[in-house]
Amino acid sequence: MMSRNQIGSEPVTSNSQQTSTDQSTLLRKCFEKKKFSWIIIGIIFVILSVTIPIVIIKTKTINITKLSTAPIETTNMISLSTVTSETTTADNPTTEVKSKPKYNKWKQYGITIAGGNGNGDQLNQLIIPSKIYIDDNQAILIADTGNHRIIEWKYNSNNGEVIAGGNGQGKNLDQFERPNDVTVDKEKNAIIICDHGNYRVMRWFRQSRTNPQIFISNIYCNGVAIDKDGFIYVSDHAKYEVRRWKEGDTVGTLVAGGNSNGEHLDQFEGPSIIFVDKEYSIYVSETGNNRISKWKKDAKEGIVVAGGNGRGSGLNQLAQPLGMIVDNLGQIFIADFLNCRIMRWSEGDTNGSVVVGGNGAGNERYQLNYPTGLSFDVEGNLYVADGGNHRIQKYELCIE
Ligand SMILES: *[C@@H]1O[C@H](CO)[C@@H](O)[C@H](O)[C@H]1NC(C)=O
Repeated sequence: MMSRNQIGSEPVTSNSQQTSTDQSTLLRKCFEKKKFSWIIIGIIFVILSVTIPIVIIKTKTINITKLSTAPIETTNMISLSTVTSETTTADNPTTEVKSKPKYNKWKQYGITIAGGNGNGDQLNQLIIPSKIYIDDNQAILIADTGNHRIIEWKYNSNNGEVIAGGNGQGKNLDQFERPNDVTVDKEKNAIIICDHGNYRVMRWFRQSRTNPQIFISNIYCNGVAIDKDGFIYVSDHAKYEVRRWKEGDTVGTLVAGGNSNGEHLDQFEGPSIIFVDKEYSIYVSETGNNRISKWKKDAKEGIVVAGGNGRGSGLNQLAQPLGMIVDNLGQIFIADFLNCRIMRWSEGDTNGSVVVGGNGAGNERYQLNYPTGLSFDVEGNLYVADGGNHRIQKYELCIE
């Protein structure tokens, strides 16, 4: 009897009149209490269902703006799962650890490992190096833009070796005009070069070095990348697009942009360096839009994953980003050219963080002078093409 009268946590007050005389009144009261509880629960439910999305939308406004194509429900689901994992952190500390990157900090003083001997065309010199590529043997391939050559700097070497070009500025097959990007086709043992000033993409085989080929012509190439299947991606500065090419293609396949220049999510302004990840997502640094956009496979527009808040030096801004590389955790490292710093962003961040530099333009070891490119070696050390200082800086990973 008692237990039947208890609704919720509030016991029904003992009332002899009630219990002895009028069971139906009791039942009615009981029912009303039940109804009342349900109304309360209903109200709470309504309030929660209204406030939770509002809170989430408020905190995630920027994400939603960036992910404007994604249905809001999906975004909320993502947010909710984030909230859940945050609240369970205490019970499950691994949630925290999971999001903490392994490679976190680098020494702030760089070591010059290539160039740094003034600008010139000797083998220990560079002129405005731009893109760098570190191969499996720890050799650094450098697009030595001002010297119209690609130079390979073996590990711990005092000078480089010209592996492509180096025959003066020109249009012959063995010449370049301001090459600004280089990547390696491991399978074919070839290097792919963005021969910017000659409006073409070149291929040199690393072994022979005697048979350079025009891989793509009539393209205002600004960046080249290769995916795990050997497809070549090229950013086109004149057509505001990225195309994917395979051997023998005459037009390639449009994979990003191609909707004239602009700042809409389906457009580019100054598309330059490209990175393609394992899922075939294409990351593009846009010098004109001061942002990095990411185009998932077959997407019709990109999402902004870094910057996109106008040109400036705020932590939420970039100023003419150039070199860019994405690690296995999806962290995006950016040569923030005009800000003379290297930034790191993760997708969804409102602000980036400074990795190295950011101490004004200069040639001290803690400074950069308009960084153009960057890469990592297998140990996680960071390398930066410090364009204006005609040197490549190495920043050792701090082991914690
Ligand atoms: C993000 O960056 C902006 C601009 O630099 C700054 O005003 C703001 O405080 C930063 N927010 C956080 C959470 O660090």
